This record gives sequence, C-alpha cells and structure tokens, in this order.
Amino acid sequence: MRAIHARTFRRSFDDVPRDWFAGNTFATQLVNSINLLFPEGERFFVRSVKRYEKDIDDPELRAQMRGFYAQEGQHANAHERYFKAMRAQGYDIDAIVTVAERLLRPRYLSKEMCLSITVALEHYTAIMAELMYTDPFFAKIDEPMKSLLLWHAAEEIEHKAVAFDVLKKINPSYALRMGGYAIASLGLVLVWGAGTASLMRQRRAGFAKVLRDVSEVLGNGVLGRKIFFRALAQYVAPDFHPLTRDILPLVRQYLEDFEREAA
Ligand SMILES: [Fe+2]
Ligand SMILES: [Fe+2]
Repeated sequence: MRAIHARTFRRSFDDVPRDWFAGNTFATQLVNSINLLFPEGERFFVRSVKRYEKDIDDPELRAQMRGFYAQEGQHANAHERYFKAMRAQGYDIDAIVTVAERLLRPRYLSKEMCLSITVALEHYTAIMAELMYTDPFFAKIDEPMKSLLLWHAAEEIEHKAVAFDVLKKINPSYALRMGGYAIASLGLVLVWGAGTASLMRQRRAGFAKVLRDVSEVLGNGVLGRKIFFRALAQYVAPDFHPLTRDILPLVRQYLEDFEREAA
C-alpha cells in the first residue's frame, strides 16, 4: 500500500521574478493563470471525494483519501500565498478567482459527475506534474516557483490514483468517466485560456516579445502534444488506471530530500 501524507511548503514568494518561467512571459502567465485555479480547484476535489467517505470501506483507500485531503489542503494554502506575490506585482486577479469559485461550486451536476470531473482534473495535474520532472523546458523555471512546482508535482504523482480508485468503487461506468473528462477539459480550456489572456493583457509586454514567447511555447508542444493530446490518449483507454504508468520512482529521491531538509 502507498502511504500518502502531506508536507508543508514554507518558502516565501517575496523574490519571484516577473517572467519566472525561463524568462518567457507567455509560459509564466499560463502557469500564473492555472495557479489562480488551483486553490478553489483543490477544495472542489476534496469536497467531491469526501462526500463518498462513508461508502468506502477499504481501510487502505480510506487512509489514502485522508492523505489526499491533507496534501490538496497544503497545495491550496501554498498557491494562495502566491496570490499575494501576484497582487504585489500589480496583477488584478479577483475576477479570475471569482469565476473559478463560481464554476467549482456547481449546483446542477450530480455528486458522481463532480467526482468524475475531479478524476479527470487529477489526470491533467499528473500529466503536468510529470513534465516538471522530465521536460527540459520546465527545468528552466526560476526559484522560488521551481521549488513550489516540484513540491506540488511530487505529491500529485504520489496521490494520482486516489480519486480514480474512489470513482471506480462508486461507479466504474466508462460513460461517466468520459463525460466528466469532457466537462473538465472544456472548463479547463475556457477558464485557463481566459485567465491567461487577462494576465497577458495586464503584463503589457511588447508585441515582438509576446510573439517570440508564444512561438516558443507552441513550438515546444507543451500545450497540445505534451498536455492535452497526451492526457486524452491515455484517458480514453477503457482499462485506464493512473498507476498503469506509475512514475513514483521519478520523485522518490526528491520527496526523501524534502523531508530530510524539513526535519
Ligand atoms: Fe494539488
Ligand atoms: Fe491532486
């Protein structure tokens, strides 16, 4: 059984450079934008899974669920701390955060669909987390954001199967899983895209720089090939399970070092 427990990220965000993602304004705003969705998203994930606690009697999965709540809670706190740094850099982020709050408290979706959406978004998170540890473009991120994202990514990789295993026990329907994926993907593209556009507008970089930076990200295939297509290609398999591709060995050393340094 995989034991899952939370670790606290304590680094300050006082010294975050403006274009902290390899000097690339577009890549920075893409991750800044998704950062604004994380805290409310993670609270949604926890609510969606917690509703089923009484229906899960496997003690190992129940223990993993508790670890999952604790980790997502810590992630939400750390990313919310970074909000302050974004505001200090002059960004108006309230509108994006409010949209995320409204969308992630859906009134017309069933409990099962909310869980299915959570599973889909956890899959996206795991795909992005893997890039943090394997893609040379991500290795160029500046501190302290690099440390924040490595820490978050490692725990996402550690708990990537928890929500899926709960959904599988509650309702293993393929249609439900893919329905959640469709809603999650559409919502993610729209809100992430709108947030990025808003931040890019506020950043006011020159046209030539924007063109160069957008070309670098698109040329790198980060959004299309490495995130959205890869995520879909894995998820559509009827026998998909997050741990078919268990990449915990990628982050084991990182987690051990993190715990030693925190001790
Ligand atoms: Fe998280
Ligand atoms: Fe997660």
